[in-house]
Amino acid sequence: MPYRSTPCNIVIIGASGDLTRRKLIPALFSLYCNELLPDQISIIGFARTDLDDQKFRDTIIRFLTCRYEPEQNKCHEKMNDFLDKCVYVSGNYNSIDSFTELKKRINDIGFPDENTLFYMAIPPSIFVESANSIYHTFTKGSQSQARWSRIVIEKPFGRDSESSKKLIDSLSEIFDEEQTYRIDHYLGKEVIQNLMILRFANLIFEPLWNNQFIDSISISWTEKIGCEGRAGYFDNFGIVRDVMQNHLLQIVALVGMERPDNFSAESICDKKVELLRAVNPLELDDITVGQYTKSSLNGKSELGYLEDPDVPNDSITETYARATLSINNDRWQGVPFYLTAGKALSSSMTEIRIEFKTISNSIFNSYGDIKSNSLVIRVQPNEAIELNIINKLPGLDHQLEEAKLNLHYASAFQQIVPDAYERLILDVLRGDRSLFIRADELDASWNIVTPILNRLEQEKIKPKPYAFGSSGPI
Ligand SMILES: NC(=O)c1ccc[n+]([C@@H]2O[C@H](COP(=O)([O-])OP(=O)(O)OC[C@H]3O[C@@H](n4cnc5c(N)ncnc54)[C@H](OP(=O)(O)O)[C@@H]3O)[C@@H](O)[C@H]2O)c1
Repeated sequence: MPYRSTPCNIVIIGASGDLTRRKLIPALFSLYCNELLPDQISIIGFARTDLDDQKFRDTIIRFLTCRYEPEQNKCHEKMNDFLDKCVYVSGNYNSIDSFTELKKRINDIGFPDENTLFYMAIPPSIFVESANSIYHTFTKGSQSQARWSRIVIEKPFGRDSESSKKLIDSLSEIFDEEQTYRIDHYLGKEVIQNLMILRFANLIFEPLWNNQFIDSISISWTEKIGCEGRAGYFDNFGIVRDVMQNHLLQIVALVGMERPDNFSAESICDKKVELLRAVNPLELDDITVGQYTKSSLNGKSELGYLEDPDVPNDSITETYARATLSINNDRWQGVPFYLTAGKALSSSMTEIRIEFKTISNSIFNSYGDIKSNSLVIRVQPNEAIELNIINKLPGLDHQLEEAKLNLHYASAFQQIVPDAYERLILDVLRGDRSLFIRADELDASWNIVTPILNRLEQEKIKPKPYAFGSSGPI
């Protein structure tokens, strides 16, 4: 049955938090405005904070935007209709009584025994106890086999291979793999979704997509801001776990994988796993780690990482990492994948840069140093695909210059670029798992970084200092 004609409950566990306010509720509202939510929907927030329905609505209304419904009157009408569907239950994550209250509320205002999506917008330390409460209250001995229960979990999925496996095992006793949607919101970004189209729906790239023609691939994620407000969480993880193990390795998998047999979730994940398993685990020589220090930028002084009140004075947590990955297969042997992730740097952007080889024996060698071609895929900000080519500068002499073939999303398309969470929540409702991370995929990516994380910790390797707002350690 089409998903829109079946009633559905969306239960957000941890609904008093940042993710719910900033991402989930706005995404649900956008889907609602686009008539992409099921016709009969209830949205139930659950957390410990003492709120009633009205207070919950008051906290979320500020985050709703009218980008899909710019006409103010209509938008406000839609906001009110949407908010009417949002209710809140206060309770404890490990309490069957609290979850029984939650179930009662669904029975009263929602759709008992119908499709139910449980979104775990909570820290991983309470995933398992919350999932247990869900199991004992909702799914154990459930009469309704015809309807689905799905659980969405957010990164971090563990701290290393071992803790990730433990988390997978504990949750798999409660929810099957097919019911589990592990989100890496980068996979929902428009340009990342386009990677497969770019590679496999165009003739011109795939024949060149190998070590015969590609010199190196750089994947960078940088942020201007430091860890303010998140340092307590961040210090337990560091940038390798927070960004490299998930967002960047997912991009590596999509850029490097072989062509899937078809466009199904299973085929795509199979190829991503195959690629990730071919990546050599990182060694100490492959990585540089850094930590930002205080600096003064445009007259404003910025605190260093160690000055943050939530960070221990002797923390060796890395806020910057630059790693060189090597991939042990026929396609990529000898092509370095340079990964960079860092906070408190000079710019905020995510970019993939494919650097092609130079032409040996070029007939234009006497015209000076000719650059190689590069394909730049900018994920954020200002989504774009740029192909840098060598071009003749118009004029009477033969001067060669680098020029760009540009596809800038903002000027090329009128459509609004959806937020990643809109795409991902929609896919969970439709049951499409292709943009979610399968357990074996998670395992393969942890295996690449766990040995180096262990060494950094065991050998207490101090990150190199770099000034806040600089381009990272030298
Ligand atoms: N925020 C983002 O943009 C973002 C991005 C990517 C991934 N994530 C992941 O998404 C999940 C939720 O993120 P978030 O930013 O919304 O988290 P959060 O604000 O720290 O936590 C969400 C809610 O969980 C409850 N909670 C927090 N710490 C708890 C603890 N130690 N024990 C019991 N309950 C606790 C709190 O609700 P009550 O006190 O009311 O119970 C809080 O409002 C996390 O796993 C996070 O890593 C978030």
